[in-house]
Amino acid sequence: MASKVVDLRSDTVTKPSEAMRAAMAAADVDDDVVGVDPTAQRFQAEMAALMGKEAALFVPSGTMGNLISVLVHCDVRGSEVILGDNSHIHVYENGGISTIGGVHPKTVRNNPDGTMDLDKIVAAIRHQDLHYPTTRLICLENTQGNCGGKCLSVEYTDKVGEIAKNHGLKLHIDGARIFNASVALGVPVDRLVKAADSVSVCLSKGLGAPVGSVIVGSKAFIGKAKILRKTLGGGMRQVGVLCAAAHVAVRDTLGKLADDHRKAKVLADSASVETNMVCPLDHLFDPLKFYYVIVLCVTYMCFIRYSLISWIHEYHLTCYAKSWNSTMCVQCQRVQKGEVPFSYCRKAVEELLKGGSNLEHLTNGAAKSSYGH
Ligand SMILES: Cc1ncc(COP(=O)(O)O)c(C=O)c1O
Repeated sequence: MASKVVDLRSDTVTKPSEAMRAAMAAADVDDDVVGVDPTAQRFQAEMAALMGKEAALFVPSGTMGNLISVLVHCDVRGSEVILGDNSHIHVYENGGISTIGGVHPKTVRNNPDGTMDLDKIVAAIRHQDLHYPTTRLICLENTQGNCGGKCLSVEYTDKVGEIAKNHGLKLHIDGARIFNASVALGVPVDRLVKAADSVSVCLSKGLGAPVGSVIVGSKAFIGKAKILRKTLGGGMRQVGVLCAAAHVAVRDTLGKLADDHRKAKVLADSASVETNMVCPLDHLFDPLKFYYVIVLCVTYMCFIRYSLISWIHEYHLTCYAKSWNSTMCVQCQRVQKGEVPFSYCRKAVEELLKGGSNLEHLTNGAAKSSYGH
């Protein structure tokens, strides 16, 4: 039995590195609400330059970054935003754009590769009619989390940007993991988001900072965003302490993301994994061959959940159950630290996925996986 835990729950569960802690302790700080924290100012300027935008603003979370961005672009009541039906903003942010911002969502189906069909985006744009809200914004998510960390290409992003421009709309990118996309695609991040009017970038996901996101855009956009951040209670005083850690995260982690992606591919044994996310059942199982597992999921949802969790405990592997038929593992740089061999972790997931004797009774011996179990 292993004594170490391989923590694959998410890339949000990292602990700050020694270098981050040292930078936090040494940070030169002042009151950022009045705009005089030197470390925050330096970090925001650094992020604006990196992302190729005029200005940046540190915000407490990705959720607040998205909310502020949508609200800045949709500052007239009766505004509508076009976004993916499986997007983080639509699914996981408490409907904040509507409940707080009064912005109406118009969803377009996310394809398995994270895109929304361009013709469907165009079709979702409202024409002027007194019955309709007014379309003001399109939102993309890159990487697309619920599609398994899929990357939106620069060509696709540019095309959506063109659509937005041609219709007088703005484009916001939820770039919680935009650096993962940039690294995986081999496209500089500023080029990848060139078509966007705003981007929210999480520092506390793949980059491993303890707290925070930045939003980037034009000076005018950030000026309005600063007011909204204060309204939402996101103005933080000596926030340079957090920016110092975030600076180290960007400096030290960007170069390691490619290795995260490589490990995630090894873990899944699948080239279809693009970044740091693995949805094992989606990637390892051929639904035809593994009918056994799919049927089990549908019919014995609770059992399979239970079984997955028991395997997870046996192998000291932690994951989140993503949905009823899938478990999500997110590979992150500080997970391994050389304490547990990567092959061990992979074996655990393989065992977990092929089922085991503890699942056998559920099949009555009628169906077998291609592993022969
Ligand atoms: C794609 C995406 N956008 C936004 C967020 C929100 O970030 P936060 O948890 O910092 O609010 C997340 C969080 O996981 C995310 O995955």
